[in-house]
Amino acid sequence: MTRTARGRSAVAAFALFVVVGVAAFWLLTRPRPLAATALPDHTPDPMGGEVLYHVGSCGSCHKAADGAPGAEEGLPAGSAALPTPVGTFYPGNLTPDPETGIGRWSEIDFVNAMTRGLSPDGAHYFPAFPYTSFAAMPIEDVLDLHAYLMSLPPVRSPTRRPDVPMLGLARRGVGLWNRMALGDRRFEPDPARSASWNRGAYLTNGPGHCGECHTPRNWMMIPDRSRYLAGGPHPAEEGDVPSLRGLLARGRYKDVGDLTLALQYGETFGYDKLSSGGMAAIQMNLAKLPESDVRAISEYLLSLN
Ligand code: HEC
Ligand code: HEC
Repeated sequence: MTRTARGRSAVAAFALFVVVGVAAFWLLTRPRPLAATALPDHTPDPMGGEVLYHVGSCGSCHKAADGAPGAEEGLPAGSAALPTPVGTFYPGNLTPDPETGIGRWSEIDFVNAMTRGLSPDGAHYFPAFPYTSFAAMPIEDVLDLHAYLMSLPPVRSPTRRPDVPMLGLARRGVGLWNRMALGDRRFEPDPARSASWNRGAYLTNGPGHCGECHTPRNWMMIPDRSRYLAGGPHPAEEGDVPSLRGLLARGRYKDVGDLTLALQYGETFGYDKLSSGGMAAIQMNLAKLPESDVRAISEYLLSLN
């Protein structure tokens, strides 16, 4: 072969490599939404949805920026900045405003956002939105949450694109990450345990997304299930997150009643380690739950060795 011929075949081989690589990337990152036929026959319960809204801290990430529409009323009108290691997000407007909120979304659009991390036009959300945990929710619960959001007053508050480098490509790439990190996460109750333990396990691991901070991640930022809730570096680089295992053995709390009070009243009752790294907002949202749900979470947590 002459030198130019060899050069040409190298270029051809490289071009083929790129084409195959791009095609594989495209296929592997393809969004896989649920079809509307996946919706169960269910009469939504907005009051049940309100509990999920608080345990999920939706209103903390989706709050309005100071002075922006909806801020005074504490509505999830979006626009406040959420800094993360990949860039700054402005989580969207969750009120039923048809133009700037989710008023025109269908139920299946909402279910796909919450459990598949997909927007109505099929783009991947970044996992700064904890859909990897919300994916544990039964569709009925997601519909209850949707009904609660639809019962809020609509707020007109334009959404803002995140400041993330190479946004389009990065979004597509999340599809690849989802293949490893998302899977089928639907919560399965443990029949050997009490109803309240199961309720606690569900709230903690599903809508409560406690593992998003309390479970350490591997180098690909995938939570390490073998060290579930065992604590580790803070995902937003705010120091360390304590372990939620062995809380009884380590003498952090006396019993279920003690941890329940800690989660309801936090540092105002003299409990420590409940304020930094985003935990204060979580605790204040837990304070809005019915006491039986906070007890259920405590019962579950104190059962972890
Ligand atoms: C830790 C912060 C955080 C929490 C908690 C959170 N979200 Fe979000 N959410 C986000 C971010 C960030 C995005 C945008 C992601 C993106 O642009 O890729 C988002 C996007 C969304 C979207 C898509 C909005 C749109 O306009 O496309 C919906 C719907 C949503 N969240 C609902 C919820 C609900 C319901 C809850 C509570 C159960 C919740 N979120 C809790 C951070 C959060
Ligand atoms: C945004 C990240 C984040 C999320 C989500 C989160 N936590 Fe925490 N949590 C922390 C951090 C950080 C601390 C330590 C705070 C401090 O030291 O001031 C903490 C502390 C705690 C403690 C005190 C531990 C001890 O040793 O006494 C408990 C209990 C706890 N969290 C429970 C929960 C529960 C239950 C959930 C889910 C409903 C949850 N956390 C969700 C970040 C988080």
